[in-house]
Parts: sequence; structure tokens; C-alpha cells
Amino acid sequence: MNPHFQPVAPEHASRLVNHGPTVLVTSAHQGRRNVMAAAWSMPVEFTPPRIAVVIDKKTFTRELVSASGAFALCIPGAALADLTYAVGNCSGRDIDKFARYGIEARPGPALGMPLIEAGCVAWLECRLLPEPHTEEAYDTSFGEVLAAAADSRVFANGRWSFRDDNPLLHTLHHLGAGHFVVASQTIRARPL
Ligand SMILES: Cc1cc2nc3c(=O)[nH]c(=O)nc-3n(C[C@H](O)[C@H](O)[C@H](O)COP(=O)(O)O)c2cc1C
Repeated sequence: MNPHFQPVAPEHASRLVNHGPTVLVTSAHQGRRNVMAAAWSMPVEFTPPRIAVVIDKKTFTRELVSASGAFALCIPGAALADLTYAVGNCSGRDIDKFARYGIEARPGPALGMPLIEAGCVAWLECRLLPEPHTEEAYDTSFGEVLAAAADSRVFANGRWSFRDDNPLLHTLHHLGAGHFVVASQTIRARPL
């Protein structure tokens, strides 16, 4: 357990993914667990907090999520760029990615989903919202956030704080083909 992690209030959960970080989607069902990278996720509702994430139908993740009705989004910091790319380029059908890459996870408080805190800066544990038509037609899954937490060194009081003294905690944003930019300079809009 990462001592820097603090619970995030439901009304602030959407802020965790508002800026489009690449996430690690974790899943588990009947003793099997998995993790994959996803560049495509976003908030879709405020109250209760709900998010959408694209999980290709062909993935093992999708199979576990459909079977368990749950998943978590763990948000990797810049320190996990290599790992993020790695778990996005192999399938949990073939290997246990946690064992292969030495990833430590603990069961989430709401649904028991694997939560990665070492190198990650936040997580959201979600209940899958059953949408039979959408699930058949699209790769998008919707989830309701039941619990969330973030590293207080980079997210507190509902706000990210990307600073020069916490560069490894800046979030990753995928440009494609293993290239990422990290969130860094923050600017504030002023009234015109
Ligand atoms: C940086 C990155 C971002 C990705 N984003 C997505 C995404 O948003 N949605 C998706 O379905 N797959 C995405 N992928 C591909 C999956 O992570 C990949 O298919 C993975 O191997 C699935 O693993 P699984 O079969 O163990 O579930 C991404 C891969 C990388 C490397």
C-alpha cells in the first residue's frame, strides 16, 4: 500500500481522467487477473461519477470485465512509461502480466479489483454499467466509480499539481507507437 494515496471524493473523481491520461485497466475474475493499457478513457457523468473506456472486444481484459462486471483504471506516472507500453503489447491470455513484469497490486476496497499503486498516481474502481446493445456494437465500456484515490503529492483537493519537484508523478499521454508526452507545465485561464 502506498502511504501517499488518499481517498478522492466522488465529486472530484472525474478530475482524475479529465485531462486524458493513458490508464492501466485492471480486471479480475475467478482467480485470474489482468492489466492492459488504454489511451481512450473519459468522464461522462458527474453524479454519480461515471466514466467510459475503450476496451477492444478481442482483449482478455474485455472477457474478464464482462464476466466480473467490474474493472479499475490505474493512472501510471511517467516512471511507468515502459511498463505501460509493455502491458499494452501482450495479452493476459498468454501470460500473467503481474508476475511477468513484477507488478504489485492489492484488492480494491469496493470490488476487489487489482489496484496498482507503485508508480501509479491514482486509481478508480468501477462497476461495469451493463449496456447490452453498446457492448455488442462497440468497444466502449461504461463504469460507475465506486471508490477512488490519488497520490497526494500530485493530486489534492480535486486538483492535479504537476511541478518540477514531482516529475515521475506526471501523467502519461499517448501519441501513438510507444511515444508519450507527460503532463507538465500548468497554465491558468484568466478572465478576458
Ligand atoms: C499506450 C497504449 C494505449 C492503448 N490504448 C488502448 C485503448 O484505449 N483501448 C484498447 O482497446 N486497447 C488499447 N491498447 C491496446 C491494448 O492495451 C492491448 O490490446 C493489450 O494487449 C490487451 O491486453 P489483454 O488481452 O491482456 O487484455 C493500447 C496499447 C498501448 C500500448
